Amino acid sequence: MPLPQAQFLDVRTTLKQGIHLLREAHVPSDTLAAELLLLHVIRRDRTWLYAHPEELLAPETIELYFSLLRRRASGEPTQHLTGKQEFWGLEFEVTPDVLIPRPETEHLIEVALDRLAVRELRAARDPKLTGEGLTIVDIGTGSGCIAIALAKELPNAKIYATDISPAALAVAQRSATRLGYYDRVKFLESNLLVAFSSFSHQSPACPELAERVTNHQSLLFDLVISNPPYIGRKETSTLPIEVRNREPASALYGGQEGYELYGQLIPEAARHLKPGGLLVLELGHDSLPAVLPLLETSEWTNVHITNDLAGIPRVISAELT
Ligand SMILES: C[S@@+](CC[C@H](N)C(=O)[O-])C[C@H]1O[C@@H](n2cnc3c(N)ncnc32)[C@H](O)[C@@H]1O
Repeated sequence: MPLPQAQFLDVRTTLKQGIHLLREAHVPSDTLAAELLLLHVIRRDRTWLYAHPEELLAPETIELYFSLLRRRASGEPTQHLTGKQEFWGLEFEVTPDVLIPRPETEHLIEVALDRLAVRELRAARDPKLTGEGLTIVDIGTGSGCIAIALAKELPNAKIYATDISPAALAVAQRSATRLGYYDRVKFLESNLLVAFSSFSHQSPACPELAERVTNHQSLLFDLVISNPPYIGRKETSTLPIEVRNREPASALYGGQEGYELYGQLIPEAARHLKPGGLLVLELGHDSLPAVLPLLETSEWTNVHITNDLAGIPRVISAELT
């Protein structure tokens, strides 16, 4: 669609043209994407947008909007253009260095909070959680969405978050700071939980860990939670092009088959959980048959599977015996 001539256009017409441009380019969720980009450009919320359909927008605003629409139409994700994505009611920074937080990952937070509350009930304590006495680690934190959502829900918990990607950790740290959780989550560069091992040669990035490593103590967790990379390299060609070309490979692929990282993560989690500690993992759409047997051992108990809204087994959780 040609760029409209430099002229004032009202909000309703601008949005209609935006939706049309994205629809012609077969962009999925065209209406939502056109709306989000317009809201980003005019720095307003959705209520304002629909309450002011006649408001005129300046030519520069329209030009900027259409330049973003064209980038979206050529495959850039909306979140890379707006620089943000909402998750658990919080706004997270998104760059090409992190996976865009997905709504189904919110099930991980729900399962973790439910199972922690059940543990309190079983111990005849108040199930209303504050996180008092809990130590948690989020492996592969990416944007920081899981760790920071847990920090919001569990104000007294000690929370660590690891990632193998320093660039992702920088993004997560900026979100933590902007959202007011900077001192609640300790971000560490680490391959899975290596930074927490007593005999690690990696120098830990926080003094508390340095002290533990010096004293040959490990840090044991009440909850290990992770949304690991779980797509198979063999599935690459089936991925939507904007995922395949725009999201970080280290956040997508778990190996040739996809489920390989679970085989390392689950035994590491067992070594770093307290007895009775919880493991909560996101699953890929076909990961369950490979992952379930890893938890059907005497080391684990109370294995639960939770489906997402599409009926796909999305979360597996278990308790260390
Ligand atoms: C699927 S993304 C999840 C990001 C975020 N937790 C979420 O749910 O949106 C997986 C993350 O794990 C990180 N990662 C991949 N391999 C890792 C490893 N061996 N150790 C730690 N993090 C790893 C990636 O850099 C990426 O940020």
